[in-house]
Amino acid sequence: MTDEKLLYEGKAKNVYQAENEDEVLMVYKDQATAFNGKKKEILPGKGVLNCQISMLVFDYLIKNGIKTHLVKNLSDHEQLVKKTNVFPLEVVLRNITSGSLVKKFQIEEGQKLSTPIIEFYYKSDALDDPFINESQIHALKIADKDEIEEIKEQALKINQLLIPFFAKANFDLVDFKLEFGKYNGQIILVDEFSPDNCRLWDKTSHHSMDKDVFRKHEGDLVETYHDVLQRLQDK
Ligand code: C5P
Repeated sequence: MTDEKLLYEGKAKNVYQAENEDEVLMVYKDQATAFNGKKKEILPGKGVLNCQISMLVFDYLIKNGIKTHLVKNLSDHEQLVKKTNVFPLEVVLRNITSGSLVKKFQIEEGQKLSTPIIEFYYKSDALDDPFINESQIHALKIADKDEIEEIKEQALKINQLLIPFFAKANFDLVDFKLEFGKYNGQIILVDEFSPDNCRLWDKTSHHSMDKDVFRKHEGDLVETYHDVLQRLQDK
């Protein structure tokens, strides 16, 4: 695998060219970062756990009709995926108030929203992923109007599927980030779904079981992700 050409080095994953020209290999790393890379640590075991959790989530979404980039799970930390033209957008869905929403509007954390919120951020480490609205996305030719509608529709559908998926394991799905790409003219879900890019609160204790544990120094991240995997497997 290491002989393959490195196409992209990310904070939590590396992407390599696969044998087949239109496929790539995603390799999960043990690195944890927060605050746009300002806090960084190697946490042995994290890559495998994120990959395993993401596999469970993607398999469930695929079974429920969501089109994704996943071709095959290759090992406990590697996935073969379709090579797509990824929209430089982070699509954030929120069901419960937390994080930047609470900070921005100075509202109370933990309030159930009357309807899910969908937000877009422009993917740029140099710019700290600034908020971008639909009119800007359209005018700057990042996606056309139909593509924006399709992304929104899919993101909301994924949210409706994932709320009960996590509820069965006694988690509240507070918020999460998705990415989408285009493959053969079709918009599909790409990247990963793990506690690195969502907020999961234990329904009983309301404790965070996600990257906030690392961001806020609230405990052992690897142990926490291990519990998340176990609960999703047992549900
Ligand atoms: O920080 P904020 O409250 O806007 O994050 C909302 C959700 O999006 C969180 O679950 C967070 O983990 C995720 N996110 C992410 N990558 C980013 C920004 C946010 O996965 N660059």
